[in-house]
Amino acid sequence: GVDPRLQAISAAIRVVPHFPKPGIMFNDITTLLLRPKVFKDVVEIFVDRYRDMGISAVAGIEARGFIFGPSIALGIGAKFIPLRKPKKLPGEVISEAYVLEYGTDCLEMHVGAVHPGERVLVIDDLVATGGTLCAAIRLLERAGAEVVECACVVGLPKFKGRCRLNGKPVYVLVECR
Ligand code: PRP
Repeated sequence: GVDPRLQAISAAIRVVPHFPKPGIMFNDITTLLLRPKVFKDVVEIFVDRYRDMGISAVAGIEARGFIFGPSIALGIGAKFIPLRKPKKLPGEVISEAYVLEYGTDCLEMHVGAVHPGERVLVIDDLVATGGTLCAAIRLLERAGAEVVECACVVGLPKFKGRCRLNGKPVYVLVECR
């Protein structure tokens, strides 16, 4: 059966047309955060899915992966690793560039944040092209980590159901509207 919480999660996400650019339908999760029951359901669905899977680290992608990642990490007894945009982390970093519609961006992680062989879950709010998640997977694998899955609250329809990026499974709760 369909989880009744998913309908409430989808309905709590505001769709803002033409943001940040003409033609883009922006799926805004900040309206979901204003509803503690729905926010809690999101965290609980992920915690229920990922507990007892030997996951020792949750890597959250800046900026909105930082909203969901730490609660999930604490819920499954894992550490939290921020994957940041360039020049934000003070220590030694490894970097992974990725292609955007116009130009490139980059994710960085502190050296030593993850140990070789660690089982890691990657969290973000949304997956569109998948370019950001692919960069996160590459970054973690370069550090020797094993990416168990990538999880997002919302994703384009092609990411619903069985779907992989760089060979890693992607799990999304609801489709973009
Ligand atoms: C958004 C979103 C994901 C990414 C998904 O972040 O939060 O991180 O885009 O897009 P993709 O699947 O096509 O790579 P954004 O780049 O707007 O950065 P921000 O969270 O720092 O604003």
